[in-house]
Amino acid sequence: MSGEKIPVAGVIGYPISHSKSPALFRHWLERMELPGHYVHLHIAPEDFDASVRQLPKMGFVGVNVTLPHKHAALAIADHKTDRAVMIGAANTLIFRKDGLIHADNTDGYGFVTNLRANAPGWNPRSGPACVLGAGGAARAVIAALIDIGVERILLSNRTRGKADAMRSDFGSRVEVVNWVDAGEAVDDATTIINTTSLGMVGQPELRVPLDGLRPGDVVNDLVYAPLETRLLREGRAAGATVVDGLGMLLHQAVPGFERWFGKRPEVDEDTRLAVLG
Ligand code: ATR
Repeated sequence: MSGEKIPVAGVIGYPISHSKSPALFRHWLERMELPGHYVHLHIAPEDFDASVRQLPKMGFVGVNVTLPHKHAALAIADHKTDRAVMIGAANTLIFRKDGLIHADNTDGYGFVTNLRANAPGWNPRSGPACVLGAGGAARAVIAALIDIGVERILLSNRTRGKADAMRSDFGSRVEVVNWVDAGEAVDDATTIINTTSLGMVGQPELRVPLDGLRPGDVVNDLVYAPLETRLLREGRAAGATVVDGLGMLLHQAVPGFERWFGKRPEVDEDTRLAVLG
């Protein structure tokens, strides 16, 4: 028997059974014929730190981290990428051979890569971007938009204080718009991104007026269940380029997979089908 260890990775959340990451990672491992395992880890917030510290001893090379642990994941790390610090949360932990924990946040990378892949020719300087929602996903999206040169970000959230806090963190490129006026921000923007949970299965519909959508706009909904939300349906009907949320989930997983299992995976139609089951 060889002494070679089989790398193990996983995704930590609470709850976690709904996560699509295991199906995604197992699909890539099989397709590339790589040795490795990827598992669900259901870990309560009070057990997060102690559990994470045990994982490297059990053969884990790293983990993805989802709700509600993304802040704790950043806090536990010895090294943090600039983008993780900027977003204030980590979704990827790498357990280094020297025992240190390295934290990254690949959500913004996943968002931009998905946008560029599905809206070829998209120009960050084509006009303002409208971001609906000011939660964790919005932070990653705004950090990424600023990083690639979007000059005005019209941010609208039901709870205005959260949007104001985001403006204090990210600066004057972010302009806060009252939630009741979100339709005007949609009208003014050329790129429209829904980061709220509205429109997701089991959640209320996004009711922002969408008559400001136009041909040439790029409309991205981070919701991926269903794949076609009201926002995307109306965007398509208006002649806009529409981008669904599944691709962001797939692309954000690429850096972790490459680091843990040694090869960069492809995101293509087969990958989408594997995850959709
Ligand atoms: P995530 O990490 O996915 O961004 P989150 O941090 O819980 O999750 O953020 C959820 C977002 O959806 C928030 O912008 C939230 O608005 P509030 O800040 O006002 O809570 C938004 N959201 C959720 N339910 C909503 C609803 N019924 N109407 C309007 N916005 C809603």
